[in-house]
Amino acid sequence: MMVSVAIDGPAGAGKSTIAKIVSQRLGFIYVDTGAMYRAIALACLKSRADITSEQEVISRLPEIHIEIKFMGGEQKVMLDGEDVSSEIRAEKVSMAASSVSAIPQVRTYLLELQRSFARSYNVIMDGRDIGTVVLPDAAVKIFLTAAPESRAHRRKLQLEEKGVQADYNRILEDIIKRDYNDTHRETAPLKPAQDSFVVDTSELTLEESVEKIIEIIKENCDEI
Ligand code: DC
Repeated sequence: MMVSVAIDGPAGAGKSTIAKIVSQRLGFIYVDTGAMYRAIALACLKSRADITSEQEVISRLPEIHIEIKFMGGEQKVMLDGEDVSSEIRAEKVSMAASSVSAIPQVRTYLLELQRSFARSYNVIMDGRDIGTVVLPDAAVKIFLTAAPESRAHRRKLQLEEKGVQADYNRILEDIIKRDYNDTHRETAPLKPAQDSFVVDTSELTLEESVEKIIEIIKENCDEI
């Protein structure tokens, strides 16, 4: 039997950074489901589909070929055979991903792919609906959150480290808009699973967050 840990939460709460470190320490595979929505959004942008039209996005789905590979513990996203792991991080892809992820057919399209990893590996899977929809039987469910201001501040630092000039207010506005989209959509909205552990990282350092998550996993998972 494989062990699954679900980590959900809003954009910028530190899910992927924390989940990557935790999975390395526990020897699990880290699955980033947001990257899959981003790949669909990128495919739509590339083919100049109207992202605001559900029908148009749905009609493109059969032509979109996403493949997930794990190389040296890193998840790589391939779109039509091309590695798009960096390209999907662009800001315009973030907003487009938030839009396409509200479409039920897009979610169904990715569901089986996401579940297949949990059948084959011990996984830490992060997203918005992992504990509620994708892996409702996950051994441990964590809802990772932080105040919008602290998420915007971290995002600004991250961009500046990459040499990208960033405007704090614009980032904060985007975060608030994306939170609204993700929590108000009808299908699989972002919300803590009833049996999840809510961890607020606003006042925690990265190492403190990692330790807290590992502690919760160890306390609640007999297999580890
Ligand atoms: O985690 P992220 O920022 O890479 O996710 C991009 C978008 O995809 C986000 O706005 C919400 C959506 N998403 C989702 O709806 N369900 C998931 N399991 C993961 C991401």
